[in-house]
Amino acid sequence: MVGGEPIDVPDLGLGTYRNDDWDQCTESVQTALEVGYRHVDTAEAYGNEEAVGESIAASSIPREDVFLATKVLHPKFTDDYATESIVQNGRACLERLGVDSVDLFYGVHWPGGEYDPAETFEACERLDEEGAFDHLGVCNMTPELIDEARDVSDVPISAVQVEMHPLLQQEELREYCERHGMDLVAYAPLGNGRMFEVPELQEIADKHGVSAARVSLAWLREKGVSSIPKAASEDHIRDNWQSLELALDDEDVRKIDSIDREERQYDNPYAPDW
Ligand SMILES: NC(=O)c1ccc[n+]([C@@H]2O[C@H](COP(=O)([O-])OP(=O)(O)OC[C@H]3O[C@@H](n4cnc5c(N)ncnc54)[C@H](OP(=O)(O)O)[C@@H]3O)[C@@H](O)[C@H]2O)c1
Repeated sequence: MVGGEPIDVPDLGLGTYRNDDWDQCTESVQTALEVGYRHVDTAEAYGNEEAVGESIAASSIPREDVFLATKVLHPKFTDDYATESIVQNGRACLERLGVDSVDLFYGVHWPGGEYDPAETFEACERLDEEGAFDHLGVCNMTPELIDEARDVSDVPISAVQVEMHPLLQQEELREYCERHGMDLVAYAPLGNGRMFEVPELQEIADKHGVSAARVSLAWLREKGVSSIPKAASEDHIRDNWQSLELALDDEDVRKIDSIDREERQYDNPYAPDW
């Protein structure tokens, strides 16, 4: 078994799921880069890699200063989930993004359907040999699935992306990633909007005079986890960026830690047995 290679995923990135209108997507990525974001998360399945790639290329920020992450299409959409098709799908991600390599390549978006660890990670090894990415990651995996992936992958798995927010606190995965030197990246860090209905977050937000979005993102940062909130509007993009200025106190953190609700927002037939 190999270990995770050191990686430093920026604390805050821009999520782009359901941001597939060309103009809206390019505008939001450009705004985010102007505001200060240096991490953009996309995926083959989001249908916006071209728009994301073009926005980064058109911005005044050098490509090497932007941490770009994408995910290869999961088996639900492919007839032939074999090594060769994953390699081709990975190359197609780079082509659509208009880059030679990405900083983080999630070799598995959802480990369901016909997911086969040996074929998947053989494809990732070939893409790594071609210089397609700096770091390899996986998404939507349990510690058991990550163990299995690490057993078969010659390329170190450096990052794990899963749903995480105050209503899904992921203690086991946090501990696992810390133990194995992997970065944890929280998707749906605002619970896809659900965080605005959590009274504890609103109380803390009122106390600091900030939005509940900032509180959720600051809590994730306090846990050592990177976040990729999706925001299309400039107000939301700026509000989320301001979370980097918010320091929660011990009482705030304890209050969020003790929320006794578990509400996952994303599940599908390709999800593992969480
Ligand atoms: N690996 C995976 O399987 C997976 C699955 C899901 C998501 N993801 C990634 O994670 C990213 C984030 O997840 P998500 O898009 O599901 O949900 P999210 O980031 O938790 O929430 C996005 C929603 O919150 C709104 N919002 C954002 N900032 C706000 C603010 N400051 N105040 C009020 N509302 C705000 C957005 O509105 P507007 O858009 O109107 O601004 C949008 O409706 C995705 O875009 C994607 O990159 C990965």
